[in-house]
Amino acid sequence: MPKLQISQPQTAAQKPSYDRTDWQRGYESQLNESDYWIDEIEGEIPPDLQGTFFRNGPGLLDINGQRIHHPFDGDGMVCAIVISNGRAHFRNRFVHTEGYLAEKAAGKILHRGVFGTQKPGGWLTNIFDLKIKNIANTNIIYWGGKLLALWEAAAPYRLDPCTLETIGLDTLDGILRPGEAFAAHPRIEKGKNGEGDRLVNFSVKPGLSSVITIYELDESGKLLQKHAHTIPGFAFLHDMVITPNYCIFFQNPVSFNPLPFLLGMRSAAQCIQFSPNKPTQAILIPRNGTDEVKILETEPCFVFHHTNAWEEDGEIFVDSVCYESFPNVEPDGDFRELDFSTVPAGELWRFKLNLVDGKVEHQVIETRCCEFPTLHPNNVGQPYRYLYIGAADSPTGNAPLQAILKIDLLTRNRQIWSAAPRGFAGEPVFVPRTPRSLLAKEGQDDIEDDGWLLVLMYDAANHRSTLVILDARDITKGPVAHLHLKQHIPYGLHGSFTSNVLLS
Ligand code: CO
Repeated sequence: MPKLQISQPQTAAQKPSYDRTDWQRGYESQLNESDYWIDEIEGEIPPDLQGTFFRNGPGLLDINGQRIHHPFDGDGMVCAIVISNGRAHFRNRFVHTEGYLAEKAAGKILHRGVFGTQKPGGWLTNIFDLKIKNIANTNIIYWGGKLLALWEAAAPYRLDPCTLETIGLDTLDGILRPGEAFAAHPRIEKGKNGEGDRLVNFSVKPGLSSVITIYELDESGKLLQKHAHTIPGFAFLHDMVITPNYCIFFQNPVSFNPLPFLLGMRSAAQCIQFSPNKPTQAILIPRNGTDEVKILETEPCFVFHHTNAWEEDGEIFVDSVCYESFPNVEPDGDFRELDFSTVPAGELWRFKLNLVDGKVEHQVIETRCCEFPTLHPNNVGQPYRYLYIGAADSPTGNAPLQAILKIDLLTRNRQIWSAAPRGFAGEPVFVPRTPRSLLAKEGQDDIEDDGWLLVLMYDAANHRSTLVILDARDITKGPVAHLHLKQHIPYGLHGSFTSNVLLS
């Protein structure tokens, strides 16, 4: 099996685009919950930008001074920035999960985390403790009138969309059975021909063989489809892409040895081993729930996030961020001390899946270190032209994300805006300038890059975070507005935007 050739030269002599201490400070816990109108705005909020930007991510990187082993284990803290009539209101609240409340009351770590956090006291304290804390920290969506904080291994927590107060664990009106999860990467398919939008999501029950369950919900949150499929092997699936006919997963070539986890010596993620000699499998689950599941093989690589997928002349295209291998979660050591040059960086790849002969081909789209891709919401599951992604400032080598990259997939032209040396980027969220309903009324077509990119950045110079608004048509001219928060928000994971102005 040829190994995926990730083509980034490691240039040891290259001067870093950032200061390490700056980067590390973006991982300080944020203990405060705030609620205010943002009064420090550079530039102007576009008057046609109205709605609510939500973002989720770890708010705590320590519990009362006891260090969390990996940011993926940090308790979920949701930020909401409501934009209306040229003004913006900020609010952040921790998701009051059972584990968050218990540890807050106790003032210490009570739970093991998937990514290495152990209860203090060594393996004897952790042995046979298989309870994993639902930290609700990965994504946040507003769907069917519910605001849901998502974490892939459990049911979502529902929050009040205006106050962000936690309402509680939510079964989506009984769609989720007890113990069933709802992944953190739903895809929203735009309704065609007057039909409403659909939310497509999944859950995985990993084991010696794994069960993938697909859920499709209408705009009101009512269940349209639910079907489960057993696939061979241990599945570690974080993301999914959809086309009109398929849900597509990349099954990374990993094995899982549960023994050190059971014995309390290692966390679950630390028992995952990348197998460089096994293929990566593309798993295609038909959305009708009845046709046969197809499994295609390609070179070993590791994928957390996909950008998009679409069908064209009997072939399926999938754009994904690929790593050479699974970044090991070491049992010792501090993630803040990570040596970027020793771990694989993400690159953007395009896979072509041929359903007739079962062959998979791929080509490199972008070698610059990148993560957190996005696109215009109307093109999810469809051919598309413009892709936006967090990227390193430097075109070579692995580094923290400090820039936003726009790629024209047709011409392969690029635009980049960088906040280096003292700014650090998160996931961009694309907001169309004009709602589709209005365009249809005016008899206009969508212009795919006519919209805004919203990015929550960490500004190390002032140890605070800033929401930047970029004009997606030309990001090189820099943000049209910087909305400076009064505090920093630790580096986050995923977010979303709704045109609803959700303010109490
Ligand atoms: Co993700």
